[in-house]
Amino acid sequence: MRYLLSILTIITLAFSTAVMAQDTVEITIEGNDQMKYNLNEIKVEEGQTVKLTLKHVGKLPKAAMGHNWVLLTQGTNIQEFGAAAAKAAGNDYIPEGTDNVIVHTKMLGGGEETTIEFTAPAKGTYDFICSFPGHYAMMKGKFIVE
Ligand code: CU
Repeated sequence: MRYLLSILTIITLAFSTAVMAQDTVEITIEGNDQMKYNLNEIKVEEGQTVKLTLKHVGKLPKAAMGHNWVLLTQGTNIQEFGAAAAKAAGNDYIPEGTDNVIVHTKMLGGGEETTIEFTAPAKGTYDFICSFPGHYAMMKGKFIVE
């Protein structure tokens, strides 16, 4: 009987671990000195905990080639947001008081990395960009919640 209970405990623990793994998704996205991300699409599931790591794999300093990762609300005009962000140098290029940002990382220079954790928003397709001045034209992609 004790043996059977041990087996049941092990099975229960294994099952819980599997469920937890599905609840969290880890994503790594890179930005480089050529002003590019290595991903233009990220897919997650609604309600998942997203652990997103941004790595700046280049060598240029933050002032010349800074990269961040900004997840925008649906309906945000990327050009307008990018223009507002370009004026927000004192706030890491995130417009103060904006309601267009769901979540964002800090701005990185070459060789740096950072991780943020957030809950995936409602099902739908969202835009992500780098808000360093001028980068959104090339550094952008779709964040798809299924
Ligand atoms: Cu950038």
